[in-house]
Amino acid sequence: MNFKGGSGKTTSSAHLAQRLALKGYRVLAIDLDPQASLTALHGVQPEFDLLDGGTLYDAIRYEDPVPIAAVIRKTYIPNLDLIPGNLELMEFEHETPRALSRGNAGLFFFRVKEALAQVDERYDVVVIDCPPQLGFLTMSALSAATGVLVTIHPEMLDVMSMSQFLRMTADLMDVIADSGADMSHDWMRYLLTRYEPTDAPQNRIVAFLRTMYGDKVLNAPMLKSTAISDAGLTKQTLYEVERSAFTRTTYDRAIESLNAVNDEIAQLIQKTWGR
Ligand SMILES: Nc1ncnc2c1ncn2[C@@H]1O[C@H](COP(=O)(O)OP(=O)(O)OP(=O)(O)O)[C@@H](O)[C@H]1O
Ligand SMILES: [Mg+2]
Repeated sequence: MNFKGGSGKTTSSAHLAQRLALKGYRVLAIDLDPQASLTALHGVQPEFDLLDGGTLYDAIRYEDPVPIAAVIRKTYIPNLDLIPGNLELMEFEHETPRALSRGNAGLFFFRVKEALAQVDERYDVVVIDCPPQLGFLTMSALSAATGVLVTIHPEMLDVMSMSQFLRMTADLMDVIADSGADMSHDWMRYLLTRYEPTDAPQNRIVAFLRTMYGDKVLNAPMLKSTAISDAGLTKQTLYEVERSAFTRTTYDRAIESLNAVNDEIAQLIQKTWGR
């Protein structure tokens, strides 16, 4: 998560979910963003394929929610299931204030967590791609999460925006915690995205972030690579593209960076499991 648009949330989520699935974890990827980029990356067209619903909204809405299993679909990657998103998710942002004023929202921030509890046995890891805003959807994801990744493009304006995001998030989490909810997480990390090691100003920002946040910044950064953005043009991740589609060094550099990031996250997960 991060409310900075274009900070690499979807790209990171898609590659993480796919890498974990390829490694044998049973993974559920959830698109919580009405823009539905994660959905499109997995071959579901948000504007055509979900005319009768089928997003997480159906399972977390206040009236007549469906079992979460009803909105889970297989992808063609073994071990990877998807709950797609589309504009309908916005309903949750509109309905929650109404439900709160009627007094029947209950603990709105637990709706995602409670829905996920129904399929707890089926998955090892759930990856949630959040929208670039700090609304009820993002807060619900934050309440459901056991680990949090904040994507950060290392440039000054992005860092300033992130600091606002963190402050607002902390305030909101305090409010929720005051109502008795456990808002602690097993881990929280910053992930540097679209990083260009030859860019001097970026390096200064990276040095600054590492000094400020220490080991809360993942060691491995997600390098900026035309291989990643090119794959995105055909709605693919780099894990789906042939190595021969790119200059070998371009491909290798990008895939090494992605694997290093994703395997570092897998290690955090293993550590949480006590392995
Ligand atoms: N490591 C990378 N190298 C090159 N391009 C990248 C990389 N990561 C992301 N991009 C490109 O940057 C753009 C924004 O990335 P992405 O959609 O992942 O960001 P986002 O944070 O999910 O955006 P939004 O806030 O709109 O949801 C995309 O076009 C993507 O292809
Ligand atoms: Mg996105």
